[in-house]
Amino acid sequence: MGNRSVLVIDTLRATTTLTTILDRGATKVLTCASLDEAFLYKRQDPTLILGGERHNQPVPGFDAGNSPFDYQSQLVEGRAVILTTTNGTQAVARVNGAGWVGLACLLNAAPAARRQQEQKSEGLVVCAGTVGQVSWEDVLTAGAVINEWPERAWTDAARLAWTAFSANQTHIAQSIMQSSHAQHLLSSGMARDVAYAARINQSSTVPVRGTDGWFYRNT
Ligand code: MLT
Repeated sequence: MGNRSVLVIDTLRATTTLTTILDRGATKVLTCASLDEAFLYKRQDPTLILGGERHNQPVPGFDAGNSPFDYQSQLVEGRAVILTTTNGTQAVARVNGAGWVGLACLLNAAPAARRQQEQKSEGLVVCAGTVGQVSWEDVLTAGAVINEWPERAWTDAARLAWTAFSANQTHIAQSIMQSSHAQHLLSSGMARDVAYAARINQSSTVPVRGTDGWFYRNT
């Protein structure tokens, strides 16, 4: 990873939820890969809010799940949140060695791309996908990010993502709904979360990793 500037994307739902948590006034968020690690943090500091999912469902003993609607201002304002999810927070763990890490979703695609461009180092977009498989909604989001990059910086993979975005940008929400993860969430009664995540450039918040490993709003 070296000096690269990395944006991690998990539009359904981890990076959408992480962006929303900071939008709603949390001081900082930490992503962690395992439930044990999350519970350990909470034992060390009981004021932390523990959130996340396994199999898309809230974890017993946690304060909140992985729905952006779980994190209203009344809960998170002025507080720190730990989130652990099946794919998104694992993808963040995998880019630990990068010089700069930010989180992107459809909600903040253009602001996230601009923050990444300011870093002046080689840019990389990492799509979390779903258990090792490509996720359509993450590819569309990557395309929305790449749409803000100068074309000379595009790899063939970047061009593929941009082509997918470009062909669907006029009906992006409908296109996201067709993804297999969206379909799964819809059939589990989470249509509201999918509709929320399928809106483009609605937030100027970009979670950026600080020197302590926590993510802060636009650091
Ligand atoms: C994940 O990280 O796997 C997702 O955010 C799953 C979900 O929709 O909760």
